Amino acid sequence: MICRKGGLQMLLHFVPIHVFRETPQVSFFDAGVNGSNGADVVIHHKNAISPPDDGNFEQYYIHNHQVDHNLVIEGSRKFTLINPKWDEPHHVIFLNRAMGALQIPIGTYHRSESGKEGSIVLNQATRDDLFDQRKEFTPVSLRSNKQLRKARQTHPVYWIWEEERIKRLKLDCKGYSKSIKLEPLIPAH
Ligand SMILES: [Fe+2]
Repeated sequence: MICRKGGLQMLLHFVPIHVFRETPQVSFFDAGVNGSNGADVVIHHKNAISPPDDGNFEQYYIHNHQVDHNLVIEGSRKFTLINPKWDEPHHVIFLNRAMGALQIPIGTYHRSESGKEGSIVLNQATRDDLFDQRKEFTPVSLRSNKQLRKARQTHPVYWIWEEERIKRLKLDCKGYSKSIKLEPLIPAH
């Protein structure tokens, strides 16, 4: 693992949802994202990964003409975001519905995985005029991209939902062993 120190904290943006009604039997909320012009549904049946691994190597999507806004509709999903241009290039987000729609900026490598119960995600994307679906959804493998591999090795920033709010956790290099203990506290799916 590579330790980086100093610099500005990279803050991810979560677009909040507006809940109209939440009861044990009914969830009723406005999931709208201003300016989005795509509404993609990604259903994971059981413990799926998007995009699927390339053998033993993780794969990532990266967009040039699309900003993602990923909202969990059902279940929970772990997102990994990697952007070699960021001061903190590696983020792991344990996303649930209450956290809102996770914004993934252009040029950011990303993948998501579900636990054994699966999950449903609504991605309200903002696409520009140059969007071409043949070019936006080509997976990039850790096997072939050295820059991505290096950024993946930096200590991750964790984002979790705890005590009714989004928490950002960054463990320093010395405290990194604590993250091993932290993992069971975070939902695994
Ligand atoms: Fe995406």
